[in-house]
Amino acid sequence: MTLVDRPLVQYAIDEARAAGIREFIFVTSRGKGALEDYFDEAPQLEQELRKKGKTDLLEILRNTNMESGAIAYIRQHKALGLGHAVWCARRLIANEPFAVILPDDVIAADKPCLQQMVEAYEETGGNIVAAMEVPAEQASAYGILDITPQAGRLQPVNAMVEKPASGTQPSNLAVIGRYILNPSVLQNLNRIKSGAGGEIQLTDAIAADILAKRKVFGYRFEGQRFDCGSKAGFLQATVAFALARPDLRDELGAYLRALVAQSPGSTALSA
Ligand code: G1P
Repeated sequence: MTLVDRPLVQYAIDEARAAGIREFIFVTSRGKGALEDYFDEAPQLEQELRKKGKTDLLEILRNTNMESGAIAYIRQHKALGLGHAVWCARRLIANEPFAVILPDDVIAADKPCLQQMVEAYEETGGNIVAAMEVPAEQASAYGILDITPQAGRLQPVNAMVEKPASGTQPSNLAVIGRYILNPSVLQNLNRIKSGAGGEIQLTDAIAADILAKRKVFGYRFEGQRFDCGSKAGFLQATVAFALARPDLRDELGAYLRALVAQSPGSTALSA
C-alpha cells in the first residue's frame, strides 16, 4: 500500500532506522513477493535514472536498498495472529531485545515514535508498548492497558487485555503498533494458548511477562497516529501526509477547499 508516494513499509523502515535499528525481519504471507523486490537493488532502473540525470529520484531509490544480510523474510504460513507472526521470527531474533512495528499504524511525529521509545527504554529497560487514549466505544478493537495513571509519558502496566468486550476495558489507554520487547516474550509465545478472536495474541505474551514480575510500560508517544488498516484512516493519512508536502500542499489544499465548498451530492462521483 502506498501512502502518497512511498509504500507503508518504507515509513516503518525509516522510523526503525531513525531509532538506530539496522537489521530487519519481515513476517510476510503468500503473495507478498513484491516486498522482497522492493528492497532489492534495481540496477536497470538506476542506470536509466542516471542517464536521464534524475539524481533526486536516484537518491530516493537508493534509500530503499538494504545492506546485504540486514534484511530477512519469514513466512507466516497460517494467519494465526500477531503473536504467532512474531513467534515465526523467533530463531532470527534469538536472545536479544527487539522492536516490533505494525506498518499499518502510521505515526507522524517530530521525533519518530520508535526513537522516543528507544530513548525511554535506555532509561528503564523492560518491555515498552506505544500507547494512546482511544474513545471508550473503540476500546474493544485494541489491546488495552490496566494502569495506575502517573505523570509523564511512561506508565507502568499492571495488566493488559486484548480486545476487551465492550464496557469491560480497564482504561481507554490502547496499545498502538510499536513495541520494544525482551526475548522473554518469545519464550512466553512458546506456551500461551490462543486468545481473543481465537488468535495467538502478542498482548497475552507481554501480559505473561507482568505475571513473571518483569516490567511492562505503556509509552504515551508524542505524535499523531493514523490507522491505515481502516479505509477512513488510510484516506486521512493520505490527505495529512500530502498536505505536509511542499510540492503537493497548494494544489491539493485548493482542491479540497473547493470540494468541501460544494454542496454535498453535487460531485460527479456521488452515488
Ligand atoms: C493489533 C494488536 C492490538 C493493538 C493494535 C494496534 O491488533 O493485537 O493489541 O492495539 O494492533 O493497531 P489488530 O489491529 O491487528 O487487530
